[in-house]
Amino acid sequence: MVRIGISGAAGRMGNALISVAAQDTVNYKIGLLLEAKGNSTIGASIGGFTITDDLKKSISSMDVFIDFTTPAATMKHLTELIDAKKPMVIGTTGFNPDEIFEIELAAKRIPIVMSSNYSVGVNVMWKILKEATKALKEDYDIDIIEEHHRMKKDAPSGTAITTAEVILREKGLDPKSNMVFGRDGRNNERNRDQIGVFAVRAGGIVGEHRVIFGSMGDKLEISHTAISRDTLAMGALKAAKFLMGKPVGLYSMADVLGLN
Ligand SMILES: NC(=O)c1ccc[n+]([C@@H]2O[C@H](COP(=O)([O-])OP(=O)(O)OC[C@H]3O[C@@H](n4cnc5c(N)ncnc54)[C@H](O)[C@@H]3O)[C@@H](O)[C@H]2O)c1
Repeated sequence: MVRIGISGAAGRMGNALISVAAQDTVNYKIGLLLEAKGNSTIGASIGGFTITDDLKKSISSMDVFIDFTTPAATMKHLTELIDAKKPMVIGTTGFNPDEIFEIELAAKRIPIVMSSNYSVGVNVMWKILKEATKALKEDYDIDIIEEHHRMKKDAPSGTAITTAEVILREKGLDPKSNMVFGRDGRNNERNRDQIGVFAVRAGGIVGEHRVIFGSMGDKLEISHTAISRDTLAMGALKAAKFLMGKPVGLYSMADVLGLN
């Protein structure tokens, strides 16, 4: 039984986590619901738990902290979790390189799982993409199209960036210098190594990622569709359970799922 702390409790992922955890009382128990200072839900009760804005005060009531908030909030919570020596599942996306570096340092002091996507399907897609990249060799151009709901703050999605990184690393190429976010202009013939990442924002789309491999004679598409946030919440809860008793370190969902 893992006592979980849910950060961003009133958000879209927070709601999914609360409802999925409540369906598996054998493995999970809610120990803490956290929201931002000033949020209208502070003091409200969900399933017998009062939403708080004071992590420090309630930190001992949970074993693993799951955070789907904003980069600034996650970085603040990280400091408090290090002090309390509590493990963390990071769901937030959109970190800058300095923040990523800080998370890597933090993982020398507490165990952390970080993934830009917690669904089992996306993590299996990354494994399949490595195989496809290896098999299709240099004959195919590769681009990525992602689609999300209109409220999503960061673009392109963390999942789309990770997807491009997975492919470029498999090709032995530097991800930073070989990724472009959209294309425009008149002189835009693509080069083979470059991966274009395109972000669509429309209505309530939960999350869709489509990778296109195109040669001069055919097109192969590998795609993943999230139908509900429950798939992401289930994965994050699995990650929380995985962290119980783990040594310090930065783990991926591939570690959690045994896909390495
Ligand atoms: N890794 C994944 O699988 C995955 C999946 C979905 C979303 N995300 C990411 O998770 C994050 C949240 O997504 P969402 O759709 O739930 O957003 P959301 O805006 O619906 O929810 C975020 C919640 O965090 C709360 N919050 C902000 N600051 C806080 C603080 N200091 N302490 C506690 N709570 C705080 C907000 O009030 C809000 O309720 C985004 O970065 C998103 O990209 C990741």
